[in-house]
Amino acid sequence: MATKRGGLKLYLFSCFLCGIDFCRRKMATLSVPPVLTSPRQDAIDLYKAFKGLGCDSAKVVSILAHRDAAQRALIQQEYRAMYSQELADRLSSELSGNLKKAMLLWIHDPATRDAIVLRQALSGDVIDLRAATEIICSRTPSQIQTIKQIYHARFGTYLEHDINYQASGDLQKLLLAYIGRLRYEGPEVDHNMVTNDAKHLYKAGEKRLGTDEHAFIHIFSERSSAHLAAVASSYHHTYGNSLEKAVKGETSGNFEFALLTILRCAENPGKYFAKVLHKSMKGLGTNDTTLIRVVVTRTEIDMQYIKAEYHRKYHKPLRDAVHSETSGHYRTFLLSLMGPNH
Ligand SMILES: *[C@@H]1O[C@H](CO)[C@@H](O)[C@H](O)[C@H]1NC(C)=O
Repeated sequence: MATKRGGLKLYLFSCFLCGIDFCRRKMATLSVPPVLTSPRQDAIDLYKAFKGLGCDSAKVVSILAHRDAAQRALIQQEYRAMYSQELADRLSSELSGNLKKAMLLWIHDPATRDAIVLRQALSGDVIDLRAATEIICSRTPSQIQTIKQIYHARFGTYLEHDINYQASGDLQKLLLAYIGRLRYEGPEVDHNMVTNDAKHLYKAGEKRLGTDEHAFIHIFSERSSAHLAAVASSYHHTYGNSLEKAVKGETSGNFEFALLTILRCAENPGKYFAKVLHKSMKGLGTNDTTLIRVVVTRTEIDMQYIKAEYHRKYHKPLRDAVHSETSGHYRTFLLSLMGPNH
């Protein structure tokens, strides 16, 4: 079991941190047809699905839920060339409700999508600092660099500027530090530094009255994921309490949420997102904004692991949970992205 878990962790590192495509595809759940599809034919079929009274949403879902980022970009290009209209605009007027919300995010590539989610969270009608924090604190340093570039190109303003404006206090400091640093993404850790950081965090939190938030911001924003995971393990081993418990005891609100997101994603991103999904569907009603955001943004990254972690923790398939919380073409779409049960 231990070696198996160790193996899984190493595997996660090599994918998340080095971004090796071959690994990433294995963790993704997107399924595309075995035969190469023609973007032009897809554009024509979509156009046909839009035409007439009412839109053939089933057709739209059956095409777009099974095309990867490169194919979706080509389809949009073909559609624009043939019909002198943006596919996104047409989708926006043909679809409605949660299906529309999900599809309008899905058609982009992962980094552009993240930039759009961030912009909406930081400047929409409803400011959603949780969503913004989730995106920022769960992405790798190189992903964040790309997102920042796209954010500026697309919205004409810097991500830093919007964070500065909407967030405050320790959360603001942490987010700005987190996106401002180019952290190492590999699996190597310096064990002396790990021990020192664990001690530093203990002294800054549990050992003293009050909290030295600056120490938490400093270590959580500067260290690599592999390093933080090692710090958490060393902390637990040396001081008895888990680092996660210490963070919960010493901080609160969105600052706490940001630190926990960084920590949990360093240790096991699949488990982190399984938890977010569970929370979004728990109790009466569903938080569809969160459900859509997580399913759509993780399908091409690590949905396979999220499903496995979800099943392990909540003793039922994630698909079943999503199935019971959604309906219609919206349901078909999310389930198509998530792939079959294993
Ligand atoms: C849904 O989740 C978001 C986090 O993305 C949160 O900000 C929002 O308050 C939640 N909405 C409801 C109705 O609970």
